[in-house]
Amino acid sequence: MATKNILIVPGDGIGQEVTAVGKKVLDAIAAKFGHTFNYDEALIGHVAIEATGEALPAESLEKMRKSDAVLFGAVGHPKYDNDPSAKVRPEQGLLKMRKELGLYANLRPIKLFDELLSASSIKPEILKGADILFFRELTGDIYFGEKGRKNDGDTAFDVAEYSRYEVERIGRKAFEAARTRKKKLCSVDKANVLETSRLWREVIQKLALEYPDVEVEHQFVDSTAMMLIKNPRRFDVVVTANLFGDILTDEASQIAGSMGMLASASIGDGTGVYEPIHGSAHDITGKGIANPLASILSAALLLDISFGMKAESDLVISAVDQVLKEGFRTVDIADANTKPENILGTEAMGQAVLKFL
Ligand code: IPM
Ligand code: MG
Repeated sequence: MATKNILIVPGDGIGQEVTAVGKKVLDAIAAKFGHTFNYDEALIGHVAIEATGEALPAESLEKMRKSDAVLFGAVGHPKYDNDPSAKVRPEQGLLKMRKELGLYANLRPIKLFDELLSASSIKPEILKGADILFFRELTGDIYFGEKGRKNDGDTAFDVAEYSRYEVERIGRKAFEAARTRKKKLCSVDKANVLETSRLWREVIQKLALEYPDVEVEHQFVDSTAMMLIKNPRRFDVVVTANLFGDILTDEASQIAGSMGMLASASIGDGTGVYEPIHGSAHDITGKGIANPLASILSAALLLDISFGMKAESDLVISAVDQVLKEGFRTVDIADANTKPENILGTEAMGQAVLKFL
């Protein structure tokens, strides 16, 4: 029995709706296993800008640092998407949080629940058995390099930069994970063009000498994008840079049926942050139809990785599995075989999972 302080950071759009469900699942686990989970909440993103003028107020950051783990929702608001001149933007809150908390490793497990084989737009025979663990570097690359305008604003630049140290620490995490899985690691770069990628490859090659039991391959990002759809089963652990990882994991979410199914863990030296990979989805915000399973699966990752509660985490995952086996779906993962009465909204899907806990 443990006592833990969990910070709930719902953020924007459907982040609010799905995180509320993720928290209920954590509550149910605490009750069942006799743990005490204390909760606090903090603002980030558009809601934080509205309340304080900043995308990540100092108070929120302080609360994150002090908590044992963060359950995160999403950030973003459509009003900024078509306003490139906005100085304060919701996403800045997310990036600052990653940097300030030193969350350099973003784990994105892509695993298809068998029940959802027909929910994907990819053929079931190609998908069946696919199980990939992405390690996306999260605090470097073109996201955090120097950026700006020159020539009176007519030219813009974003600098991509990586140090040996940054590549090595994410590489190590990926090698360690590969050891616990199929001992296969694919490192993705664009070393035929980019200097940062040539450094990346050099560092991974050198690390490989320390992990002779892990079979390493290097692939270019463009051909990886193609192979992910052509033959996803050929991948096990994949490690890549920030921007490539951002793009490849959205693509890979289709292997899991829907973006609404994918959870992620961002870890580093301090507090871990757990969040769905989907965004704030303002097109469906407030309709009560968002899929809460990614937030629930994020809670499962939180239990396992930050608290070492493997049994608790496995129970959450098996409850999700049961719910899908019973035929329940949110609208994003429903298909022609789903009975209309089995299509559930956000809250009802949460209740269905709670029933199996
Ligand atoms: C993600 C998101 C973020 C990113 C955005 C919201 C800044 O797409 O977590 O994948 O690009 O990292
Ligand atoms: Mg993304």
